[in-house]
Amino acid sequence: MITTKSRYEISLMREAGKVVAACHDALSRMIRPGVSTLEIDRFVEEFITRHKMEPAQKGYKGYPFAACTSVNDVICHGFPSEYRLQEGDIITVDMVAVYKGLHADSAWSYAVGEISETARKLMEVTHRALFVGIEQAVIGNHISDIGHAIQTYVEAQGFSVVRDFIGHGIGRRMHESPEVLHYGPPHRGPKIKRGMTFTIEPMVNVGSYEVKMDDDGWTARTADGSLSCQFEHTLAITDNGPEILTQL
Ligand code: MF3
Ligand code: CO
Repeated sequence: MITTKSRYEISLMREAGKVVAACHDALSRMIRPGVSTLEIDRFVEEFITRHKMEPAQKGYKGYPFAACTSVNDVICHGFPSEYRLQEGDIITVDMVAVYKGLHADSAWSYAVGEISETARKLMEVTHRALFVGIEQAVIGNHISDIGHAIQTYVEAQGFSVVRDFIGHGIGRRMHESPEVLHYGPPHRGPKIKRGMTFTIEPMVNVGSYEVKMDDDGWTARTADGSLSCQFEHTLAITDNGPEILTQL
């Protein structure tokens, strides 16, 4: 069942979303060569906690950290570690804040110093893919129109869309109905209605979309070792179109 949220619930998600966005804004200035992914995780945990919210990823299904830090060929759910970022890396930081029981979820990718032309194009295409999806998040469209638009755009740019991880409804739980695929045919499944809240979070690979898992059971990498990138926002559907909740 897809729940729609009240204006009050959406206002709490907006509060959580603003803290997530402010944290990403701070990360954009902090991320540079020499910073470790554990330092990023500690920063995220402190930032969210200092704003009287909780980092919802920590402890979620046993996930041990506040942030996911996914470097280069890591698609998502990378574990923070002693690894220090190097010039030329790209990193996705994913976080969720919960405020008075309501969640907001956003992942953002960052360039570490100067990056390759391919990495630059991957970041541009993935960022654009998120907004190509957001444009479809309007009342009367089908949820599947989002993924169809994203896949069409990304493949025309010569990259691939990950199948194994998808966007999701969000609200009182981090993961709710509906599933928001980033690929597939249009005009299928549930229609988009006022008050729905869900994420769009395309993961885009330079090579094939296939995934291989590390032994930690979380870290998902590209099977072919190619670079991967992700941008994610949490949205609320209004009569005037999608409102991005995870922005300043
Ligand atoms: N924030 C992620 C998402 O977009 C969830 C990561 S799983 C967790 O759905 F265990 F790290 F929380
Ligand atoms: Co998400």
